[in-house]
Amino acid sequence: MKSIIYQRYGAVEVLELADEPVPIQKDNEVLVKIKSVSLNPLDWKIRNGELKIITGNKFPKHICCEFSGVVEKVGTRVTSFQPGEKVFGFVNPMKEGSLREYLAVGEDSLIHKPQNISFEQAASVSITGIAALQALKNLANAEKGQSILLNGCTGGVGMFAIQIAKQLGLNVTGVCSATTASHARNWGCDTVLDYKKINILNLTDRFDIILDLSAKLTFKKAKTIMKDKSIFIDPIALPTKMIAAFFYNIFSSKKHKVLFTKYTKNDLQFLTKMIEAGMKIEVSKTYKISDFKTAFSELEKGGIPGKVVINI
Ligand SMILES: NC(=O)c1ccc[n+]([C@@H]2O[C@H](COP(=O)([O-])OP(=O)(O)OC[C@H]3O[C@@H](n4cnc5c(N)ncnc54)[C@H](OP(=O)(O)O)[C@@H]3O)[C@@H](O)[C@H]2O)c1
Repeated sequence: MKSIIYQRYGAVEVLELADEPVPIQKDNEVLVKIKSVSLNPLDWKIRNGELKIITGNKFPKHICCEFSGVVEKVGTRVTSFQPGEKVFGFVNPMKEGSLREYLAVGEDSLIHKPQNISFEQAASVSITGIAALQALKNLANAEKGQSILLNGCTGGVGMFAIQIAKQLGLNVTGVCSATTASHARNWGCDTVLDYKKINILNLTDRFDIILDLSAKLTFKKAKTIMKDKSIFIDPIALPTKMIAAFFYNIFSSKKHKVLFTKYTKNDLQFLTKMIEAGMKIEVSKTYKISDFKTAFSELEKGGIPGKVVINI
């Protein structure tokens, strides 16, 4: 089967197309024939070696973590899935990769695809949607009436964060470029600010929650636009940041939290209900597997609203 791998950390050039055996699923696993895979900044950050403290130095590595497809075979102990069913899900990006023709995964990594979305849309949900959900619900404990600043609101996580925040009853200010601003409004953002024109640190508004999806703002700077009791969420999950944030938070009412998404089937089920109720999932660009290097290069340039998908 075709699969995209890399043998060392580095830029897009380290990625190569490999021919590997189709995995044999274990008794408790489902073999999925992959239809679509979406790309995330997390994928290229791992590939660059930015998280090697967690991902280690064992190669080859596979890349990408979100996928959709059709069940090909099931192990003898699998109870929730049958061959031919349409599914979507995730693999742990720190350990595995989904950009390949077949994938063997546990039942807990899979869910049935809602009928009202395409395979491309379904491949765009799991990691980004769960990250947005856990940032807002688990880390921020977001409540109706609070104000949130989504600094970087038009990427994959921002698309879900805007819609989840609105569903929770928050007032949402989003930051992005003029190029993607109309998408933020379409997903429900109350106020949209252009980071090329406005320095958010000069805003007179103060926020209950700041989710920095641009990964360009520091907690130290963000404190100037945070309410007295408020939360800043950092999307870069480095253990050093987590330790520093833990000690800082003991003494401050402005809390610094680090997002380390734990991928759970419960959260996927919650997102599936939102999708069935009409949550928007926008796939802006699609590529064939043979164009994988172009797909990553485009994503890494930025400026693409929603998601980038590779069809297998
Ligand atoms: N820790 C975890 O568990 C976890 C899980 C998932 C994702 N993440 C991280 O979360 C972050 C967001 O992911 P994503 O997929 O949404 O990223 P993305 O698709 O790259 O989106 C980035 C967003 O930031 C905006 N932006 C760029 N420069 C900016 C600036 N100077 N000021 C304000 N906004 C700016 C972009 O707007 P324009 O496109 O208009 O420029 C876009 O809206 C990434 O760093 C990712 O690695 C972490």
